Amino acid sequence: MSLRVEALRKTYLQGESRVEALKGIDAELKTGELVALLGASGSGKSTLLGLLAGLDQPDAGRVVIDGIDIYSLDESALTLFRARNVSLVFQQFHLLPHLTALENVHLPLEILGHHRPERARALLEAVGLGGRTGHLPSQLSGGECQRVAIARSLITEPKLLLADEPSGNLDAETAQQVMDLFFHTLRSQKITCLLVTHNEELAKRCDRVIRIQGGRV
Ligand SMILES: Nc1ncnc2c1ncn2[C@@H]1O[C@H](COP(=O)(O)OP(=O)(O)O)[C@@H](O)[C@H]1O
Ligand SMILES: [Mg+2]
Repeated sequence: MSLRVEALRKTYLQGESRVEALKGIDAELKTGELVALLGASGSGKSTLLGLLAGLDQPDAGRVVIDGIDIYSLDESALTLFRARNVSLVFQQFHLLPHLTALENVHLPLEILGHHRPERARALLEAVGLGGRTGHLPSQLSGGECQRVAIARSLITEPKLLLADEPSGNLDAETAQQVMDLFFHTLRSQKITCLLVTHNEELAKRCDRVIRIQGGRV
């Protein structure tokens, strides 16, 4: 699906002071396009991804996905739209601590009313965690949790995938394998993707690079 961002602004209050995290972002992604988002720490990348996923409210501007201004939807319509179409790989993974790796990966399907645990198992195998399906996040390393998060992001065959440094916690060899799977899936399912990364090699494999600096592209 296509994605258009128009004059997007977001300010945070930090005690007495205001931090302008996004100072008017304009961007456009075509259907199936894979775009890398590069920028220094604190430049607003995670804030932008959260807003594109409909997780936060912008101060101004619009996020238009396939012609739909997502912040004009009411809460329940937005939740349903997100569950059906959008996946996120969070920088901090956000796995549910009381669910096993398998249950975490399966959860997005369950929310949509589907029951396909064998698909969750296959995805865990594909990211090299076939032997860890029954482990809780607390029993997994950071890199393993990140691979669970990647498997979870692919299970619903999303139309838009937003990934925040999805290989940041992986060693070089594992990163290579998991990112091969990730790119292959994105390409074959024509998923539109915005990929935050510090890795120039990964950025080169994308169609295009957007650079963000101090809340501006
Ligand atoms: N929840 C928050 N509350 C207050 N300030 C925040 C919050 N999230 C991010 N910020 C601030 O917004 C700016 C952009 O942060 P972020 O989007 O996380 O950048 P990046 O992901 O590029 O490192 C930073 O100055 C950060 O301190
Ligand atoms: Mg970040």
